[in-house]
Amino acid sequence: MKELTVLITASGAPGSAALLRALRRNGERPVRLVGTDMSPRSVGRHLCDSFHLVPAGSDPAFADAVLEVCRREHADAVLPQSSFDLLALAEARERFEGIAVLVSSPAAIRRSNDKAETYALLDEIGVRGPAWRRVRGGEAVAEAARELGYPGEDVCMKPVFSSGSRGFRIISASADRREQLLTNRPGVPEAIRLDDVVELLGSDTTTELLVMELATGKERTIDGISRGGRILLGHAKTREAVRAGLAMYFETLDDLELMGVAARIADELDLDHFFNIQLVGEHVIEINPRISTIVYQEDLNLPYLGVKHALGELSDEQLAAHAPRVRTTRRALRYFDQVEWDE
Ligand SMILES: Nc1ncnc2c1ncn2[C@@H]1O[C@H](COP(=O)(O)OP(=O)(O)O)[C@@H](O)[C@H]1O
Ligand SMILES: [Mg+2]
Repeated sequence: MKELTVLITASGAPGSAALLRALRRNGERPVRLVGTDMSPRSVGRHLCDSFHLVPAGSDPAFADAVLEVCRREHADAVLPQSSFDLLALAEARERFEGIAVLVSSPAAIRRSNDKAETYALLDEIGVRGPAWRRVRGGEAVAEAARELGYPGEDVCMKPVFSSGSRGFRIISASADRREQLLTNRPGVPEAIRLDDVVELLGSDTTTELLVMELATGKERTIDGISRGGRILLGHAKTREAVRAGLAMYFETLDDLELMGVAARIADELDLDHFFNIQLVGEHVIEINPRISTIVYQEDLNLPYLGVKHALGELSDEQLAAHAPRVRTTRRALRYFDQVEWDE
C-alpha cells in the first residue's frame, strides 16, 4: 500500500506517544508522521519523522502555518489533538484542498468549546447535564452559587473556555484551608469557600465563569468516530486515577445507554471524525470534538481507522463493521517515559 503522511498537531500532548506509535504500527503500510507544536519541547519533535514549530492554535496565523507545513511535507491528513487547534482548522478546511482535515464544523466546535453553550445544548436535547449559570465577577458567582443551593450543597465553578482542568474548583462551605495547607498533596484541586472566591475575583469581570451543580460519581467518557452526526464506531470507558487533570487508567465499558447519550449529542452537533464526551456520574460535563485518550487493541486501531475513513479508503459501513471487535476486558494504564538528546 502507498505510504501515508499524517500531520499531528499539538504533538506534545499527553496521548502523543501512544497515538504516534499506533499510527506507525498499523500492520498495513508505512506512515510518515509530521508533528507540529507551539513548543520546541514537544515530544513530537523526537517521535515524528519531521517536526515544525507553529503558532498557538488561537493565533490568527495558526491555520496558514499548518497548511504551509502540509504542502511542504505532502501531508495526506491532519489530525488535531488540542481543543485550541480545532476552530482555526475547521474554518480553514476548504483551503486544505486534497488534504483530509479531521475536524467537525466550526459551529460544532464553537458550541463544544464554549461550556455554557454545551450545557444549553444538553438542556435543549434533554440530555442530563449539571444545572449551571454563566456569570462574571465575584458577586455574580455568589448569587449563582446560592441559587444552586450553596451553602447547603457544594457547587463548583470553571471558566467557560478552558482545558486540562484549569480553573476548576469545588465551592464548599466546609472547605478547610488549614487541612489543605497541612495535608493535601499539591495538584489536588482544592475546595474553596464562597467568601474566598468572591474576595479573589472581586470586581474582575474579564473571565467568564460557569457556576454549576457539582456532579458526583465515577468519571466516564464515550470515544468514537462520527460522520454527519452518525456514530460509526466507538465505545464507552472509565476515566480513573486522575493526576494533574489527566486520567491515568481506563477500562473499556459495554454501555448502550451511554452510547445512546453520545448518539443524541453527535446528531445535534452533526459531529464528524473523532469525538470524546465526558461524564461525571450521570451528568455529561464536556464535549470534545477531537481525539482523546484511546484504549488501543491489537485488532482495533481507532486512529488509523479514523484516518483511513477520512481519506475515503473505508466507507461508513466498513468502519462500522469494526464495532464487534471492541473488547470490554481491555484496560489502559498510562505511565511516564522520557527521551534524551544533546543540544
Ligand atoms: N459540574 C461538574 N461537577 C463535577 N465535576 C466537574 C464538573 N465540571 C467539571 N468537573 C471536573 O473538572 C474536570 C475538568 O472539567 P472539564 O469540563 O472536563 O474541562 P477541561 O477538560 O476542558 O478542563 C473534569 O474532568 C471533572 O473532574
Ligand atoms: Mg475534560
